[in-house]
Amino acid sequence: MKHFSLTATAMLLSATALMAQPSEPMPVTKEGISYIKMLGKALKTKLKAHMKKDPTGLEALAFCSGSADTITKEVNAKLPAYAKVRRTALKVRNDKVNIPDETDVKVMEKFEKAIAEHQLNEKSIEVVKVGDTTRVYKPLVTKKVCLKCHGTDLSPKIAEAIKSAYPNDKATGFKEGDLRGVIVAEIKKH
Ligand code: HEC
Repeated sequence: MKHFSLTATAMLLSATALMAQPSEPMPVTKEGISYIKMLGKALKTKLKAHMKKDPTGLEALAFCSGSADTITKEVNAKLPAYAKVRRTALKVRNDKVNIPDETDVKVMEKFEKAIAEHQLNEKSIEVVKVGDTTRVYKPLVTKKVCLKCHGTDLSPKIAEAIKSAYPNDKATGFKEGDLRGVIVAEIKKH
């Protein structure tokens, strides 16, 4: 498994140090990032709108439970056949679709280490080759808005709704700044 990481800082450094060399990320990395953004944006826009409508989070929770997977499928339907994009985490809520594989776990452990060492930033990504597929990972760091449904102090109603929709939920107890999960784009050689 070929394993290398790119951060904005590293990219900037290479841009200044190697002026004559191409400093852009590889096209496949860029392509992956664009798919990650598509999924991230689709989910975030909806989440925001629902949280605004009902600040307790209950309405947004009902929406996420019903539609996160559908939205993911809709975004994937727009991608070329050689590509896909998905979410996963070390502690998952939806254990029907978001379970990580071995590579996912390794990358997420690396991101957690980077967070502990204050090395992670908004632009951090990880690129890993698995067979003929390039995977591009973007970390999702827990923000304040995430805590209503992934934090330690859930309102009883939210806790109850989560329990009924996801009896095996592992995705609570997060603090701001913790790694909540990743979005992964997978691009097959084509
Ligand atoms: C209103 C409640 C709510 C809020 C707020 C919320 N989530 Fe979630 N989250 C959910 C639900 C419900 C699921 C399961 C969705 C599904 O069925 O695929 C989920 C799933 C996820 C997953 C997929 C992995 C898994 O555990 O199944 C990630 C990653 C994630 N959330 C990150 C975040 C981040 C980052 C934030 C803040 C920006 C956030 N969530 C805010 C309710 C929420």
